[in-house]
Amino acid sequence: MKTIITYGTFDLFHYGHVRLFKRLKALGDKLIVAVSTDEFNAKKGKAAFFSYLQRSEIVEACQYVDMVIPETRWDQKAKDICRYDVSVFGMGDDWRGEFDELGLLCEVVYLDRTGEISSSEIKNSLAKKPADRANTNNACTPNNKTNK
Ligand code: CTP
Repeated sequence: MKTIITYGTFDLFHYGHVRLFKRLKALGDKLIVAVSTDEFNAKKGKAAFFSYLQRSEIVEACQYVDMVIPETRWDQKAKDICRYDVSVFGMGDDWRGEFDELGLLCEVVYLDRTGEISSSEIKNSLAKKPADRANTNNACTPNNKTNK
């Protein structure tokens, strides 16, 4: 059994998150996703639209995810890796180099982020006037398919 773990907020769950989970799951057998709690996000100065429970429910429903745990602090990762017998720690490459020290405990991988989509981008786009929003969303649509 090869277990992979990843961490994040995963607000307004989008295809960038799905593609990350799909690629991480392909590295082994079991994918654990640690979802940042609202209290932890507040410490980071970040506020999610969906609550921790809502984000966890959505992430858990993704076919590539086997288990969801709460992320409550920066320094829980080493403990999680030991507790869940993790083989691979994986994050998007916006975190490249940040967690290299975990390489003492397991393999550490940074996967390419999916371009032109993020929770912040969705929030910014929705805050725009509808006419401007349609243009922005076209840029975010995979393969630039028409935006109906
Ligand atoms: N991620 C990704 N591709 C994207 C967006 C996110 O691979 N287009 C990855 C990140 O690299 C991270 C994980 O998804 O490993 C969780 O990122 P998160 O910050 O929750 O998602 P974002 O959409 O980047 O949210 P925000 O804009 O709030 O930073």
